[in-house]
Amino acid sequence: MSDRIKIKEILASDKVDYTATVKGWVRTFRNDQFIALSDGSCLKTFQVVVDRENTAPEVLKRITTGAAIAAKGTIVASQGKGQSYEMQAEHVEVLGVADPEKYPLQPKKHSLEFLREIAHLRFRTNTFGAIFRLRHSIAFAIHQFFNEKGFVYLHTPIITGSDAEGAGEMFQVTTLDLENIPKQEDGNVDFKKDFFSKQTNLTVSGQLEAELGALALSDVYTFGPTFRAENSNTSRHLAEFWMIEPEMAFADLDDDMDLAEDLLKYVIKYCLEKHQDDLEFLENRLLNEEKQKPQNERSPMSLREKLQFCLDQPFERLTYSEAIKILLNSKPNKKKKFQFVIEDWGADLQSEHERYLVEKHFKKPVILTDYPKEIKAFYMKLNDDGKTVRAMDILFPGIGEIVGGSQREERLDVLLSRMEDFDIPAHEMEWFLDTRRFGTCEHAGFGLGFERLVLFITGMANIRDVIPFPRYPGAAEF
Ligand code: 4AD
Ligand code: MG
Repeated sequence: MSDRIKIKEILASDKVDYTATVKGWVRTFRNDQFIALSDGSCLKTFQVVVDRENTAPEVLKRITTGAAIAAKGTIVASQGKGQSYEMQAEHVEVLGVADPEKYPLQPKKHSLEFLREIAHLRFRTNTFGAIFRLRHSIAFAIHQFFNEKGFVYLHTPIITGSDAEGAGEMFQVTTLDLENIPKQEDGNVDFKKDFFSKQTNLTVSGQLEAELGALALSDVYTFGPTFRAENSNTSRHLAEFWMIEPEMAFADLDDDMDLAEDLLKYVIKYCLEKHQDDLEFLENRLLNEEKQKPQNERSPMSLREKLQFCLDQPFERLTYSEAIKILLNSKPNKKKKFQFVIEDWGADLQSEHERYLVEKHFKKPVILTDYPKEIKAFYMKLNDDGKTVRAMDILFPGIGEIVGGSQREERLDVLLSRMEDFDIPAHEMEWFLDTRRFGTCEHAGFGLGFERLVLFITGMANIRDVIPFPRYPGAAEF
């Protein structure tokens, strides 16, 4: 049926009294007459009124929750409550049945944990429909933002020989026979016999390759999957996540922070403008969930208020050293309420500290800069104090770190000595060092965790619920 029209289009137009075909999945079917139909194009379902007299009982019986149907009829203004338009169907065809005895998604509230187990079907719920429509728009807005600013989208490799972050949290890629691994004389694995004739892994970050692009194209960004074999079983970590990594030549840390703040605000604004319905639904979902919590644990703002609040003011910018002072003087630190009590300057910040700064102290997004060099990556520009680097992390309410970035070390000699500190063999990084040998210049970039941004915008609590098929320790279903 080529005159199929999506529900979103019907509801957005003020046309009535025309013939059309709708296709979708039955949410509910009342009185052998009223179908609430969803096609995923928007949050709302569409009412199809079945012509009971002229529809065969076998057909009526097969219109059950979850079945795929096509309905042809006239779109009219609805007399019923709750919808503006409906279809007076002349013909309903069941395209795919869903046995009500077996279909797991009955019209009742299911827990997120249960839905995670049936992630292949959870797209069909209101919650996950809203999340994945938003996820799409967030990705789209990110590309639009960079395109408007003249950035070039660069596809960096997924299989690589480098450990960009130097954190050693890599998934190995090999075609060697694990039952019969070829060895060198010294007993080490003979990677010369492997597919790429060298040891390879899935990328943890496209940054180093993005730097190569930026030092020719000026402004580039990557947007791709990244993989980390860190054993973090938290609601903020995935083993496979998507990251956006812009890199700008002739830019310093201030430019970097400005770009990140602009990007986050642009995307949030885009979602507020384009996704009122989905956000309202998720907001109410959250309000209902919070009713179970004691008053003092409920968030002071609704979802959309929180998003708007982020747009309305500049993010708080301060140095790591200033943040440490605040934390040392904070109640939870003095009363040893933090799981990791901050003792001294130099301590790595945990998510509990980041969230204290954002949620309790400043009550808005925070950008921390100039971290101790020991707790950050080798490529960050060393400050004149010799102790700190030009790093920046953006911390968001309910999330903690959402962005990590830095101005890069562009001085060859300093970079080489930093690599030595980190035991990174220079001979494996000649390609990276060449940028510092030939036409080096100030440059800066950052990584935005895509799922963490989706988490923030949708107000969901667990990162496993904002990616279609989450990968985490012990889980790689579908
Ligand atoms: O802070 P990270 O490790 O920074 C980098 O990878 C740099 N190469 C970025 C750059 O400067 N180009 O990661 C960047 C962001 C984090 O702030 C976080 O939002 C997200 O990526 N992230 C994760 N998201 C989900 N699951 C994980 N396991 C994540 N690890 C990092
Ligand atoms: Mg980081």
